[in-house]
Amino acid sequence: MSDFEPKIVAYCCNFCAFAAADLAGAMRVQYPPNVRIILLPCTGKVDAILLMKAFEDGADGVFVAGCMEGECHFVEGNLRAKKKVAYVKRLLEEVGTDPQRIEMFNLSSAMGGRFAEIVEEMTKRIKELGPVEVDGERGPEEK
Ligand code: FES
Repeated sequence: MSDFEPKIVAYCCNFCAFAAADLAGAMRVQYPPNVRIILLPCTGKVDAILLMKAFEDGADGVFVAGCMEGECHFVEGNLRAKKKVAYVKRLLEEVGTDPQRIEMFNLSSAMGGRFAEIVEEMTKRIKELGPVEVDGERGPEEK
């Protein structure tokens, strides 16, 4: 499906990934427009229901981007987020969806270029996987 443009939801920590996305914009670094950024005070705020709801609402891919390990402003929010992403990967597998549709990344606020790379990487990956399907059925926007 060559004209498929995936919808990707990015849950970004205010202190790092969101600032990195802002920096990428200020540096005029180009990246695919497929991502919708959701600002969080810390990635520790994500939970499995929130992450699965993004898929239910039509996302083809999701990523969580938090501070570098050991640098979370709430001590271990990013470590909790990492565990939740791993859990959702298992849930996706159970419903017959590729677990690569969700990923956790760690970056600092100075990594605007890395943020753009992550968006490119996820967009390429999800384009290859195609639209999200659960047990052979497409998501809400594809029906
Ligand atoms: Fe950034 Fe916790 S404050 S991940």
